[in-house]
Order: sequence, then C-alpha cells, then structure tokens
Amino acid sequence: MKFIELKIASLNSDEMLERSTHFLEKLKLRRSVREFSSETIPLKIIKNIVSSASSAPSGANKQPWKFCIVKDPKLKKKIRVAAEIEEKENYEHRFPEEWLAELNQFGTDWHKEFLEEAPYLIVLFKQVFDLKGEKQTKNYYVNESVGIAAGFLLTAIHTAGLVALTHTPSPMGFLEKILKRPKNERAFLLIPVGYPKAGTEVPVLTKKSFDEYCEIF
Ligand SMILES: Cc1cc2nc3c(=O)[nH]c(=O)nc-3n(C[C@H](O)[C@H](O)[C@H](O)COP(=O)(O)O)c2cc1C
Repeated sequence: MKFIELKIASLNSDEMLERSTHFLEKLKLRRSVREFSSETIPLKIIKNIVSSASSAPSGANKQPWKFCIVKDPKLKKKIRVAAEIEEKENYEHRFPEEWLAELNQFGTDWHKEFLEEAPYLIVLFKQVFDLKGEKQTKNYYVNESVGIAAGFLLTAIHTAGLVALTHTPSPMGFLEKILKRPKNERAFLLIPVGYPKAGTEVPVLTKKSFDEYCEIF
C-alpha cells in the first residue's frame, strides 16, 4: 500500500464556525418532495451528484454500491407501475394501523405519479457480496456503507439546488428485475430527482431539538 500526503484546507476556528453554521442553515432547508416538474436537467449534473455519493467511506473501501440513473420514460413507467402494485398492497393490506396513522401526516397513498414526472430516478443498489465474473468475495458493513453513500447523495442533490424523495416501495425486488441487476445486488433506495412542481407544498414537521438527539459526555 502506497501513502500520499493528505491535502486539506487548514482553517481557524472562526472560519470553521462560519462554514459549519452556513452548512447547517443550508442543510436545514432540505425537504423530501413528492411532486416534481418534468423539466429536464443536464445529465452531467446528475453524474456529478452520483460521483459525490460514491466518494463516501465504506467498509474496507469495498464501495458496495451501484447507482442506476434512469431517464428513459418507458423504464420510469415500468418502475412506477411495479411500485404502485407493491404500494397498493402495502396501503390496503400490509401496513399495520399504527404505521398508516403515522403516514397520514404526509398525505401519501399508493399513487406514485412522481416516478414518471421526475426527470431522473436514481436507484441505489447495495452489493451484498462482491462479484467479479463468477468470483465472489465478501463485502463489509454493507448497510452502513450504502447508508452513508445515500446521505452523501441526498446532500449533493440538495447542494445542486434540486429536490428528491427517499422512496422505499417495498418489497423492492421489482427494481432488480426491471434493471436486470446481477445476483449480488439488492435494491436499497429509489430516489426521484428533479425540480419541485410549481407551488409544491411540504408537510410541516417538527424535528427533534439538539438536547433530544445529542448527549455530550
Ligand atoms: C429510509 C427512508 C425511507 C423512506 N421511504 C419513504 C417512502 O417510501 N415514501 C415517502 O413518501 N417518503 C419516504 N421517506 C421520506 C420520509 O417520510 C421523510 O424523510 C420524513 O418524513 C422527514 O421529512 P423530510 O425528509 O422532509 O425532512 C423515507 C425516508 C427514509 C429516510
């Protein structure tokens, strides 16, 4: 293993405070959006966003993820139809009462127009093992690694001035079939990306206060 010198800007604490405050204020503006404009976005922006996500740390640097960018309207329609079949079953039979009551505040149901409206769907797959040809090797901390990459992805989308929804129309095996994924890949998240539809509203939610989500020792 070769080593190179780490290149990182050295900031004083005033600069760090200013930057971290600015980042916090920006990040607090991120919201999940469920209504998209069909306005197109250059593919190179989406590719940058995905590359930002793929710069995430991962267990033993195995990078156990695959990002499928879907822009083909026919594929988006297929995904919407399959997602709605699962979500109809979820809302009408599979979700317990308690979960349905929680979901009430978001005004969601099994209809998923946004899967066709958004110009891009980013489907994130986790690689439960590594596969090179027929050779299988282990991946480590797959869920943790892919979860971190997903966080980078959502942050990059927001930073680019776009919006997204973290969507999980489970079970999501249909995504593996439609996108013809190899046997080591399992759908992790389905993320429509685009501009919000004009006049889009988001639910008023309360987030936990600092003292609720953090303890300092
Ligand atoms: C792992 C995960 C799965 C989610 N699945 C769905 C989903 O299937 N449908 C949906 O409308 N929202 C889904 N959401 C979005 C949450 O409802 C949303 O993040 C939460 O209400 C907080 O709102 P905010 O993202 O605007 O801060 C999911 C979020 C996460 C992190």
